[in-house]
Amino acid sequence: MQVVPIATLRLHPEADRVPQMNVEQAAEFQADIAERGIRVPIEIVGTQIVDGRSRFLAAKKLGIEQVPVIDAPLHGDDPVLYMLRAATRRRHLTDDQRACLAEEEREYLAERSRRERARAGGLAGGRGRTKASVDSSAVTLAGELSRDRSGDARAIASKTFGVSERSIRYAQKLKSEAPRLYEQVKAGNERLSIAKRQMERDVKRRQQREQSQQVETTTGYPLWQISCGDCLTELAKIAPSTVRLIFADSPYNIGIDYGAGAKADRLTDEQYLAWCRRWMGECARLLTVDGSLWVMINDEYADHFGLLLRETGLIRRSWIKWYETFGVNCTNNFNRCSRHIFYCVKDAKKFVFNADAVSRPSDRLTKYHDRRADPGGKLWDNVWCIPRLVENSAERLPDFPTQLPLELLRAVIGCASHPGDTVLDPFSGSGTTGIAAIEGARRFIGIERNHQFAELSRERLASHRPEALR
Ligand SMILES: C[S@@+](CC[C@H](N)C(=O)[O-])C[C@H]1O[C@@H](n2cnc3c(N)ncnc32)[C@H](O)[C@@H]1O
Repeated sequence: MQVVPIATLRLHPEADRVPQMNVEQAAEFQADIAERGIRVPIEIVGTQIVDGRSRFLAAKKLGIEQVPVIDAPLHGDDPVLYMLRAATRRRHLTDDQRACLAEEEREYLAERSRRERARAGGLAGGRGRTKASVDSSAVTLAGELSRDRSGDARAIASKTFGVSERSIRYAQKLKSEAPRLYEQVKAGNERLSIAKRQMERDVKRRQQREQSQQVETTTGYPLWQISCGDCLTELAKIAPSTVRLIFADSPYNIGIDYGAGAKADRLTDEQYLAWCRRWMGECARLLTVDGSLWVMINDEYADHFGLLLRETGLIRRSWIKWYETFGVNCTNNFNRCSRHIFYCVKDAKKFVFNADAVSRPSDRLTKYHDRRADPGGKLWDNVWCIPRLVENSAERLPDFPTQLPLELLRAVIGCASHPGDTVLDPFSGSGTTGIAAIEGARRFIGIERNHQFAELSRERLASHRPEALR
């Protein structure tokens, strides 16, 4: 070991391949060095640091001028590989960070391999070499390089870093498609499985946006329309078996003023249910053979709605409870913070169900970190926990009383329809169903009786920029 001026040392040009400590860890580490000094020498090759970047940075911050160093015992190894492997000795390194280190090694080996291949090609074309000498150097290089090809490099990295090849593959994909998310994982701020899902969702959304532009330009039909009128009149104008998905969040008959006065939403039970029976029947008529109707209602009429929907001939696949996370507090009864969603299909065997749209990482994966967990996640339960919109929520429109969260409609539409399908909402209100539909490249037909709401939702749909809400 020797002591050298800190000014003579440099970080290795590939140092960023190794995860840095996060801010708290770095602060703690610096405090320790301030108190006890650098007890483990920094490992160097020439003047470049290959192990001990945090010690070096902390010493620099503390104004320490002389630091202990030793020559890294490379034993013929490549300094970058040595640096990556040395990083695994670090405390607090998660399995996901290990996977990132393994990916760095895989990538480095692949890049080195490419460079050497290019050099071999250059040599082979060079002047003044005999054919025999060119052939023999090419053979030697080919042997070395074949060990470093991507698959081999992954297998080597997997063994060296003690992580599965699958997680290295995930890290590789993340690095190439979502480098910022990858850096979060490498820094230990995000889990690899969650970052991967986030990346897949972003890619899907991007594709859907492109598809929705295509749907409009290739067919010449507008992607969405809002008809202003009574739902029974407007539904009657639509051809049978043409709609893949209907989402209906009708008035609940609880005295909400939707522009026609609160009384209009306080019918007798008989009047209200007779009207609901009619629009439900119309909806059933419009569904394609593999279509589905999703109906939302509160506690007061949920039992009636269950029976009315049976009368339509549709088959209930699920009775979902939407837990709104907060609602109306009661003094001598349970707080009201949930609604019901009836999910019904026309054919018990033939229906659209995209599991991806309604899956989440399992507890096995996120809580118990069990390697056997399915990285694709598990399907949602039949209780959906999605916060309702508060007054100051970013997606909230100022002039509409009962706007649903987009997150809920994204799930319904993603689950029960494909891009290009027609989605209908006979009570479209602020147009939430429409926004979720066009985001997912579906066509949207909205029906809304109130002129102001119809206009408001048209403006919302026309000006919608998906990124603005996320
Ligand atoms: C509960 S709100 C729907 C809110 C909507 N899901 C949203 O997220 O904005 C019910 C809507 O149905 C509309 N409506 C009421 N009666 C109607 C009818 N007979 N025909 C069409 N729309 C009607 C109301 O004006 C109101 O906008």
